[in-house]
Amino acid sequence: MKKGIQKIYKEVAPTYELVNHVLTLGLDILWRKRAARKAAGTRISNKMDGASKSGRLYILDVCSGTGELAQNMAGLLGPEAELYVVDGSLHMIRLAQSKKPMHRVKFTLADAGELPFPDNSFDLVIISFSTRNLNPNPQAMLSYLKEFLRILKPGGNFMNLETSQPPLGLIRKLYHFYIRWVVKPIGYKISGSRAGYNYLSHTMPRFYEAPEFSRLCLKAGFSTVQHRLLFLGVAALHTAQK
Ligand SMILES: C[S@@+](CC[C@H](N)C(=O)[O-])C[C@H]1O[C@@H](n2cnc3c(N)ncnc32)[C@H](O)[C@@H]1O
Repeated sequence: MKKGIQKIYKEVAPTYELVNHVLTLGLDILWRKRAARKAAGTRISNKMDGASKSGRLYILDVCSGTGELAQNMAGLLGPEAELYVVDGSLHMIRLAQSKKPMHRVKFTLADAGELPFPDNSFDLVIISFSTRNLNPNPQAMLSYLKEFLRILKPGGNFMNLETSQPPLGLIRKLYHFYIRWVVKPIGYKISGSRAGYNYLSHTMPRFYEAPEFSRLCLKAGFSTVQHRLLFLGVAALHTAQK
């Protein structure tokens, strides 16, 4: 993980959740819950011998941040599930570890581009509001997607919950206006981190439209992709299968 991004997440960590909840009027909470419910419905991939025969369900939350999504999933998953989380920021991991019920969760400090897991290990890899951080350009995004594909079992799923671009021009304009004139200053005001909310508000209008992100997933080697737009396309939930 780049030093600059690490520094930003160190600065914004203490107020990160509050800023999100204020700026989305709580919608981010509902979106994570929705993704967690879908994740909790994941079945053990039966397309592979060996690991899948253990009868355990392996789930990885990449770039887990303060662990809100992992916390939601932990509350829904049965005892057969093994929940792993990875983040590149120790500050974020410490905040996640302080939550309940996280005692069953396995934490790893690592870069999302070099995940310390063998090929074909997970039934589900999930990521929320972080792919923007992995996207300095489409080539870099592709290499992260390939890394997620590598550690998924055949038949396993990748889920991506992320901000997107509303398809309707007027809504998109309003959304970009909101990012520039509300997200950036209010984020700075609450967190005290100007660099943090400059960076975050810079990445939002530049992220992919939902169909473009689907195409990237297919290009990376996923066999199928579906997406669902959330709140007029301000965010999207993609599900891609290996
Ligand atoms: C915007 S936060 C999202 C956190 C959380 N998933 C959520 O839903 O709120 C992005 C997280 O990604 C982590 N991150 C960014 N780039 C990373 C990378 N290359 N490898 C690992 N973690 C990374 C940051 O440390 C931060 O915790």
